[in-house]
Amino acid sequence: MTRPRRVGRKSTTREPIIQEPEPFEPEATRRDADLIESSRANRGWWDRNADDYQIEHGTFLGDDRFVWCPEGLDEVEAELLGPPEDLKGKDVLEIGAGAAQCSRWLAGQGARPVALDLSHRQLQHALRIGGPVPLVEADASALPFADGSFDLACSAYGALPFVADPVLVLREVHRVLRPGGRFVFSVTHPVRWAFPDEPGPEGLSVSASYFDRTPYVEQDEEGRAVYVEHHRTLGDRVRDVVAGGFRLVDVVEPEWPAWNTQEWGGWSPLRGNLIPGTAIFVCERD
Ligand SMILES: C[S@@+](CC[C@H](N)C(=O)[O-])C[C@H]1O[C@@H](n2cnc3c(N)ncnc32)[C@H](O)[C@@H]1O
Repeated sequence: MTRPRRVGRKSTTREPIIQEPEPFEPEATRRDADLIESSRANRGWWDRNADDYQIEHGTFLGDDRFVWCPEGLDEVEAELLGPPEDLKGKDVLEIGAGAAQCSRWLAGQGARPVALDLSHRQLQHALRIGGPVPLVEADASALPFADGSFDLACSAYGALPFVADPVLVLREVHRVLRPGGRFVFSVTHPVRWAFPDEPGPEGLSVSASYFDRTPYVEQDEEGRAVYVEHHRTLGDRVRDVVAGGFRLVDVVEPEWPAWNTQEWGGWSPLRGNLIPGTAIFVCERD
């Protein structure tokens, strides 16, 4: 669900006769990026790229389906938030909701979802699609809700892959959930960080240390981050969940289903049949 991690510029063999100024291509690197820099970079990136993202992935996501990951795992079959009949009347917070497809599905089950996202443009796509879902523009690291406002929270690749301090987000989610509440979130499977983010065979050979937590950063000519993703190992994610105050109930690693022939960035049937691409953490608040 995140963008392909690029390593350098694409080369072209034929040069145009009249040289147009090249569109700016950010430099991809690994370096530190703190909370503020990550948030600012990602807000800008999602605002600039929301249109392309929705054009490219909108059909796969559907307007009112709840798809957890590029593998295509659907909440209808997964029931990670509980049986659909139990969703009726529940207050649900979706974090990093994008165009709020998941929230729209939740509303269809009789839940009362709120869709939160950092990106204004992503939320404009939520408005374009329409539906009875309240939208909130905010950073997941500082949720603008009172304590104990929700029964459930969910996030399909929203916020957690992008924030410098995931424990801060988990503590915030814990705070706004009522006792007995559940938070389910999906992220890139940590093992993918050891491989090039390419859908083909080149994405099957280890090229980096799994243990290197240095963020992936794309930066402009002045060295300002324009896109950031943060890597946590599987053990880090478990410790983050516990430090956030949750009990970890399950870690789901969706297998690539035979029906899904579609590539999504570095996610592909080839790689999906060999190595996990997504990890979904099911957490409960006592
Ligand atoms: C890969 S998209 C996932 C959106 C949606 N779940 C989907 O499947 O299309 C990631 C979303 O997380 C949002 N996001 C990134 N960082 C965030 C943050 N710190 N707080 C809230 N949302 C954030 C982005 O704006 C983007 O809409």
